[in-house]
Amino acid sequence: MSVLVDRIGQLVTLDPADPDRPTRNDAALVIDGGHVAWVGDAADAPAADERLDADGRAVIPGFVDSHNHLVFAGDRADEWEARMTGAPYTAGGIRRTVEATRAASDDELRATLGRHVAEAHRQGITTLEVKSGYGLTVADEARAVRLAREVADEVTFLGAHVVPADHADDRQGYVDLVCGDMLAACAPHARWVDVFIDSGAFTVDEARRILTAGREAGLGLRVHAGQLAADGGVALAVDLGAASVDHATHLTDADVDALARSSTVATLLPLVEFSTRQPYPDARRLIDAGVTVAIATDTNPGSNYSSSMTTAIALAIREMGMTPLEAVTAATRGGAAALRRDDVGHLGVGARGDLVVLDAPDHRWIGYRVGVPLVAETVVGGVRVAS
Ligand code: NIG
Ligand code: FE
Repeated sequence: MSVLVDRIGQLVTLDPADPDRPTRNDAALVIDGGHVAWVGDAADAPAADERLDADGRAVIPGFVDSHNHLVFAGDRADEWEARMTGAPYTAGGIRRTVEATRAASDDELRATLGRHVAEAHRQGITTLEVKSGYGLTVADEARAVRLAREVADEVTFLGAHVVPADHADDRQGYVDLVCGDMLAACAPHARWVDVFIDSGAFTVDEARRILTAGREAGLGLRVHAGQLAADGGVALAVDLGAASVDHATHLTDADVDALARSSTVATLLPLVEFSTRQPYPDARRLIDAGVTVAIATDTNPGSNYSSSMTTAIALAIREMGMTPLEAVTAATRGGAAALRRDDVGHLGVGARGDLVVLDAPDHRWIGYRVGVPLVAETVVGGVRVAS
């Protein structure tokens, strides 16, 4: 089955094979067998089985949302309200969600996950990473990665989210468990292992042990670091060759230099800074230094409960020094780089046929019309999943 997308106002391809032409006018695109088969001038477009008439609207690659915590029960709206009047965000709130998540049935968690996947599609997200991290026992973490795998492209084992209350007096024992039985139970369902490095979570030395064990179990590495302070996590991530260091708000000059010399992506999560009233990361500093930057939503019940990638893009432009095209690139190709994927995040020939039709003539309108729902249609592998 082939689909011709035509009458496109502006086509944002971000094709890595055509770096000097990230956007095209008067262009059309054909998806065949789920992948982009042809991109060119509309006048030369070949025939196809079906047609998607963009009617003058912009077409961009689907968003690649590389950081989410969606296997959870309950909410923490009370914490959010307290933060809005000055209470600080701390890692401790995670334990409340752990309690609610352990008490939920598989079907309750599945229903919540399903709602979030549908919501992600409505936001233009076509590739989704989901972490565990609200189970924190062998059985609860294994259940979380197994359920995540039913719906998500990319699954991350985050047994090292916080030390759970039941191990409060035995950190060492909990780290041993994460590196041992928990990792063994989760690795078959996951592609990635992640650690939250923070004064309320895990130290750099603990993270090194856990990430090294994860790598030995065949998992790729991701790290939460620099959310609330410069904590040494960036140096560790670069040293171990992690695919991504996430948050990356508080960075030393040495951190920025190390990232620039590495293939580790800095994944920025501006909706978290919005929802925790923290300073935004300096994306300009990172980009000017040559660091590859991604933007993700970090949808979770604690530090941010918005899945609006378009709002994240608007914040990145307004508050983090990114141009509109840099921000869209970070939310698509940047997310793909953070997941070490080259088949998503762009619309070059051979890429997966994942795209968004915007209710706007070009990509700048995402920031220009912040808060307005501009995702008109979301297509995954050539098939409409939201409109
Ligand atoms: O990415 N920082 C750690 N994990 C999440 C927050 C999870 C929570 O507060 O429940 C984050 O911000
Ligand atoms: Fe997170």
